[in-house]
Amino acid sequence: MSTDNFLELRGLKKYFDVGRPSLFSRKSRDLHAVDGVTFTLRRSEVIALVGESGCGKSTLALLLMGLEDPTEGTVTYEGRDITHLDDRQRKDLRRKIQMVFQDPYESLNPTQTIEEIVTEPLIVHGFANTADRDQRVKKAMEDSGLKPAEVYLHRYPHELSGGQRQRVVIAAALVLEPEIILADEPVSMLDVSIRAEIINLLAELRITRQIAVIFITHDLGSVGFFADRVAVMYLGRIVEIGTMLEVLEKPQHPYTKALISVIPVPNPRLRRERIILQGETPNPIDIPSGCRFHPRCPVALATCKASDPPLVTLSKTHQASCLLLVQ
Ligand SMILES: Nc1ncnc2c1ncn2[C@@H]1O[C@H](COP(=O)(O)OP(=O)(O)OP(=O)(O)O)[C@@H](O)[C@H]1O
Ligand code: SF4
Ligand SMILES: [Mg+2]
Repeated sequence: MSTDNFLELRGLKKYFDVGRPSLFSRKSRDLHAVDGVTFTLRRSEVIALVGESGCGKSTLALLLMGLEDPTEGTVTYEGRDITHLDDRQRKDLRRKIQMVFQDPYESLNPTQTIEEIVTEPLIVHGFANTADRDQRVKKAMEDSGLKPAEVYLHRYPHELSGGQRQRVVIAAALVLEPEIILADEPVSMLDVSIRAEIINLLAELRITRQIAVIFITHDLGSVGFFADRVAVMYLGRIVEIGTMLEVLEKPQHPYTKALISVIPVPNPRLRRERIILQGETPNPIDIPSGCRFHPRCPVALATCKASDPPLVTLSKTHQASCLLLVQ
């Protein structure tokens, strides 16, 4: 893995205007879906982006795809600012950054054959040579585990299993030879037995095709072996980021500790004490003062209501934002 910073997010924010709370209110309110995210993805690196429902994971992915415009902040790709692109530039970028969505049933057009589905991105991007197209489609399908491709080409999505459909989605993403895949909960709709297969496939692709992956999940347990780094997101912010080992073995943020404590472990003797967070996830329209995690933090101090903790550097690769870490 080279260390160049080929995708960089700096202070990225996305606020949605969600209107006035009532007819009598003068001011419209903002929902802070993404609230100042900074990190760097390296070439062929896998980052797992973890956090509970509503913390802003998908919005962040949509910002990276240019499907939402950021309220603030920048994204650079290979040194080029890609924060605000026109349609044509955005289309060109789509060849390099592809997204794999959660639901393989919804992402596939039921009236198209697998061949048509996987060929479509090539047609959209102006690949006119049919022999070249066929070759790329076959390779993308076989690299996605649909081998031999001929067996699947003329089938329809409903004739395939859930795992095979997600492989078709991945093949349609691969056919343009992207450098980054944003995988938004790619296994959460699949049977537990086939989740590992799809994760293994993504792990293979980063090696065989040098693809970087942002693997979005609400389940830290599903990240397993394959991520290089883990970024833990809470209410629109990254509260901890580090290598897989740093985050799983030496978590520093109380929220990360709580997420880790509920990961099932096969050996009952190694069972950890579960940390059950009190209260609901706060509403991103009404972000708590000070440390945004304080209403649910099991170790909160009185000062946590007033001070917003910065990200503290714990090692070259490990950062976390908690006042307990501030010297
Ligand atoms: N277009 C929109 N308009 C208004 N609010 C939005 C919009 N899109 C997302 N949100 C809100 O932004 C917040 C973050 O949503 P997002 O879908 O990014 O979360 P998530 O972490 O992907 O959640 P999940 O794990 O459930 O997929 C949520 O409160 C959501 O309701
Ligand atoms: S700053 Fe305070 S409330 Fe926030 S995580 Fe640390 S201890 Fe908990
Ligand atoms: Mg989501």
